[in-house]
Amino acid sequence: MTAAFKRKKLNIIVTAGPTREPIDPVRYISNYSTGTMGYAIAAQAKKRNHNVVLISGPCAIQKPKGVKVVDIETASELKNTINKFYNWADCVIMASAVSDFKIKRQAKSKIKTKKHLCLQLIKNSDILKELGKNKKGKILVGFALESENLLKNALWKLEEKNLDMVVANKVGKNMPFGAGKTTILIIDRLGNTDKLSNIDKRKAAFILLDKIQGLC
Ligand code: CTP
Repeated sequence: MTAAFKRKKLNIIVTAGPTREPIDPVRYISNYSTGTMGYAIAAQAKKRNHNVVLISGPCAIQKPKGVKVVDIETASELKNTINKFYNWADCVIMASAVSDFKIKRQAKSKIKTKKHLCLQLIKNSDILKELGKNKKGKILVGFALESENLLKNALWKLEEKNLDMVVANKVGKNMPFGAGKTTILIIDRLGNTDKLSNIDKRKAAFILLDKIQGLC
């Protein structure tokens, strides 16, 4: 029997894309995430016959075929949707670019133009960190997006959020957002590290899934 046939079928939650935090009925705070990496992971997991739920922020790319997709906008909707599927899941892969802040008081009508505008922001909860405190034997994979000290900050996130694996990306020119290639550093809970340089995101998803399955 080949390794592929012996492989356990997993229930996997993949989160992808940005979150949006509304300011008023026409404006929001968000980020440049396109969802490409998360969608590639969800597509690859489906190809391997795992059960996949993709929880997606607003993305303009094509949904992976045959994958159940739940659309969300805010970080709080993302959190509620993950919680809904959490007991079902063996593994959560959080490729979402979650907005760390939301507006304290969302305006009910469009804010009119003025010379200065102060927006009061409050912190969103750290969804992955909360899952890490309530792990229930699940495999948790996070991403780490860093401008500097990539390894140090990624290791800190691995510990702080009680993860099994962290995928670190450095912020650079046109990186890591969009359909282009990516450079990632993969670190698992056993201390294994692997750098994939200038690699297509679908190829990166393939390698990531191999590594995640190795932890299950
Ligand atoms: N994440 C999360 N909830 C948040 C922020 C981030 O679950 N409120 C998750 C992301 O989906 C990612 C991981 O935590 O898998 C790390 O996200 P990142 O943006 O790199 O870091 P932060 O934890 O937000 O920390 P900082 O912004 O200070 O680097």
